[in-house]
Amino acid sequence: MLKILITYFSKTGNTERVAQSIKEGLEGQEIELKPVKDIDPLCLKDYDLIFLGSGIYASRVNKSLSDLIIAAQVLPQNFVFFCTHASVKGYQDGFKLVKRALKKSSSNILGEFDCMGDNIGIPEATIKSMLEKLPPDKRKEAEEHQKRLKGRPNEDDLENAKKFSKSIIKKL
Ligand SMILES: Cc1cc2nc3c(=O)[nH]c(=O)nc-3n(C[C@H](O)[C@H](O)[C@H](O)COP(=O)(O)O)c2cc1C
Repeated sequence: MLKILITYFSKTGNTERVAQSIKEGLEGQEIELKPVKDIDPLCLKDYDLIFLGSGIYASRVNKSLSDLIIAAQVLPQNFVFFCTHASVKGYQDGFKLVKRALKKSSSNILGEFDCMGDNIGIPEATIKSMLEKLPPDKRKEAEEHQKRLKGRPNEDDLENAKKFSKSIIKKL
């Protein structure tokens, strides 16, 4: 049985929901699921595998993730990243600082998962007025994007997160 930590930063709850599905996919292992603020960096070494997640804010994951890695004196061998994001571009490099912090260790990144996360932090009225300011062609595109974003992560996203975490276990 593997000892696994799933830890995350989630401002509006989307990444937390994905974290819960990741946990469901890891049935049979010894799992702890906690927000990153509740993690003692000195305990990271006690895990066989750590899932590290965050929403994307200004193209990056929350700084608390890289702070956690930097503060840990000893790191475990295996990491997995997951994130939720509202845009289709600009999130791909979100873990840049975390990856830089991990370079000092011999840890492996076993996989990365991402899915869309509805921008529930922004009131509907603000989104509407932002859309109204766009030229017609851009506006249509942005409206379609908003439709695709609504309610994400949805059931399919959560099922994919579950399948993803199952697939990670097979690698170990
Ligand atoms: C302050 C703020 C900044 C954001 N910046 C980005 C961004 O740069 N790129 C992006 O794709 N999504 C961005 N988003 C959308 C979030 O990444 C997305 O809604 C995500 O699912 C939020 O995760 P959470 O609910 O776990 O906090 C931003 C959201 C907020 C609230």
